[in-house]
Amino acid sequence: MKVSIIGTGYVGLTTGVCLAFLGHEVTCLDTDSRKIDLLRKGSIPIYEPWLSELMTEASARLRFTTNYEEAIGDVQVIFIAVGTPSAPNGSPDLRYLSAAAKAIGQYFRGEPVVVVNKSTVPIGSGNWVASLLRDSYESAHKKNADGRFTVASNPEFLREGTAIYDTLYPDRVVIGADDSHSLETLYTLYRPILDQTFVPPSFLPRPDDVGAVPLVSADLASAELIKYAANAFLALKISYINEIGTLAEKVGANIIQVAKGIGLDSRIGMRFLQAGIGWGGSCFGKDTAALVTTAAEYGSELPIVKAARDVNTRQRQRVVEKLLGELKILKGRSVGLLGLAFKPNTDDLREAPAIEIARSLIERGCKVKVHDPVALERFQREHADLEVICCDSPEQVLEASDAVVLVTEWQQYRELSWDALIKKMRTPIVLDGRNALDPERLTSYGARYLSMAGA
Ligand code: UGA
Repeated sequence: MKVSIIGTGYVGLTTGVCLAFLGHEVTCLDTDSRKIDLLRKGSIPIYEPWLSELMTEASARLRFTTNYEEAIGDVQVIFIAVGTPSAPNGSPDLRYLSAAAKAIGQYFRGEPVVVVNKSTVPIGSGNWVASLLRDSYESAHKKNADGRFTVASNPEFLREGTAIYDTLYPDRVVIGADDSHSLETLYTLYRPILDQTFVPPSFLPRPDDVGAVPLVSADLASAELIKYAANAFLALKISYINEIGTLAEKVGANIIQVAKGIGLDSRIGMRFLQAGIGWGGSCFGKDTAALVTTAAEYGSELPIVKAARDVNTRQRQRVVEKLLGELKILKGRSVGLLGLAFKPNTDDLREAPAIEIARSLIERGCKVKVHDPVALERFQREHADLEVICCDSPEQVLEASDAVVLVTEWQQYRELSWDALIKKMRTPIVLDGRNALDPERLTSYGARYLSMAGA
């Protein structure tokens, strides 16, 4: 099929590359010419494992452009995968979505097309996009838009850092539409994934337990709500274990053991029960805020989702409180942060806990040193205002520090020569914000080991 993707962020680019890999003809459009220049040269503007390798394999069927006319002349499916950042009141800012819909209406000149919302958009956006498309088409072409466009929702469940794996081997595919043409078109598009008939890339073989992928076909509003409800549930699972973690600390229990003990109940499940600093990233914070705002518009409160948000904010503050409790005075102290990205295997810094923790420590008079295996350059570009010392190595971070906080659990940090490094610290306080290090080993090296794991 001929497909266009508007927006080359984590979701748009991964979707485009995977669809091209599966055999579709894909054009990716972005209005940012810097990104498109890079992509044309075969470089990836983001850090995402295996994306570059897959892009090379699919390059014959993949084009990049900044030109709407070129991208959407006569395609069968157009995905909108533009950013929907939070506006100050928590509702998503839909200006990029609206611009994309208007441009599609203006430049489209082929047979009926299915326009698919892949960005996480508020409930009701499907109808809104349809009306923008119609108006824009009719004013540009001076003819009726009837039958030209149908709108579908195809929410994305990929995680940054494992985006390719999640796209090729998803737990389910959700398609929301109020008409059968959209459903059938997207069913055909995703057939190789649904039936798992594609030949897997050599670097990401199909796991033995992956069989046919369930398809959930729903109406537009249900598909839109599925996305928000899924993210909110995952977010509250994390906040739940963090809330129990705070209690565990008080009663002398160990949250890692508690999480294992409850997670092995198959009704609960082990995943997303890792206690620690809490969630960051562009999704959970934004989507829980949007869900609360949408509910309020309908006169509903979502007290459980609100509580999950509060617990998450509190987790970040607890890091500073723990350091204060240990060091007593923060002014003039040198504190190192290991990890800036909101989680390992990505360079994404949106709502990364490290940023807020660094800011809070600086406000209290600390000298803050930071390191990240891949996000350092992006951090210097996007957070030039934050007065921290950027270090090229974790060793530099620990050198003469009064305390170090493991903020992002990169594998590299688990494998550091902690024995030698602890000796180089001024005071050997290690706060393991992700419960990722071995407390006994660190204590045997002379560290004062603090964690988010309780006793
Ligand atoms: C999340 C969802 O997991 C995806 O299904 C969804 O498609 C995506 O949002 C989206 O809406 O686009 P992502 O934000 O990439 O994906 O990352 P996650 O792996 O979900 O991690 C989110 C945050 O939760 C990270 O900061 C991570 O450190 C934290 N986390 C995760 C925990 O603190 N504990 C856990 O047990 C799991």
